[in-house]
Amino acid sequence: GPPGPAVLTTPAAMQRWRRDHPGDLGFVPTMGYLHEGHLALVRRAKAENALTVVSIFVNPTQFGPGEDFERYPRDEVRDLQLLREAGVDAVYLPSAAEMYPPGYQTYVTVEEVTRRLEGAARPGHFRGVATVVLKLFNAVGPTRAYFGRKDAQQLRVIRRMVRDLDLPVEIVPCDIVREPDGLAMSSRNVYLSPEQRAAAPVIKRSLDAAAAAWAAGERDAETLRRIVREVIAGEPLAALEYVSLADDETLEELEGTVGGPALLSLVVRFGATRLLDNIELA
Ligand code: PAJ
Repeated sequence: GPPGPAVLTTPAAMQRWRRDHPGDLGFVPTMGYLHEGHLALVRRAKAENALTVVSIFVNPTQFGPGEDFERYPRDEVRDLQLLREAGVDAVYLPSAAEMYPPGYQTYVTVEEVTRRLEGAARPGHFRGVATVVLKLFNAVGPTRAYFGRKDAQQLRVIRRMVRDLDLPVEIVPCDIVREPDGLAMSSRNVYLSPEQRAAAPVIKRSLDAAAAAWAAGERDAETLRRIVREVIAGEPLAALEYVSLADDETLEELEGTVGGPALLSLVVRFGATRLLDNIELA
């Protein structure tokens, strides 16, 4: 068959490969354990660029103490096979020791847009995300970078960083890919027991119920959040951590009558597993 992708494991090797491969480059940063959501980003990158690069790096600085860094699912052999089949040109697979050598002390802090939602629930998370994404951009040199709308706040944090730091890259948002029953694809879905997995579509049903009310003209912020709470409360295995209806751009929580486009997002816990989802109300 065709040659597999080049595999680069250090920032210097990645930068050298990029110098030797000029032209439009589409980049998909991931933490691996790839699923159809990731592969949809890869296909879009391939369609829009001469070159496609995917990174796989489980970034320790975006996990808090007591979070799932150690047990985050990993399957490098399968991931590389999927990326070979997808026809990517290079895979960037740096080690934590190369990314954060002894003495490492530089971080990127994006301020307001990281204060709420996942930023409030996971202190330091977006500092780790912004830092690693900037480092990945510096190694890969992308023309365009592809991010899923599933991580809606992450997408807004990266856009803000790109604008604020004048990074020469175009951020391309991509729609959420779901299982047939509506559950948003996620590497963390593997943590669910069969019973939890069977109950998890309640998340999308709660968003759909609020979206239906929105479509029927409901504009009261608290009423829309309450619809989500009530649907989730009907599933005994699901515990709502938060539901938010926020300004689509600034992520300021909305009160009273909703005027412009809004992001309805929630985190639901099944046991120790946190599942994140959202829908845009426009
Ligand atoms: P990871 O969770 O592996 O996700 C990589 C990319 O795939 C992100 O842009 C994410 O939004 C997107 N993605 C995940 N599930 C998706 C789905 N069901 N539909 C569409 N897109 C989906 O997000 C990260 O990794 C990390 O924070 C990273 C940006 C790589 C920095 O470490």
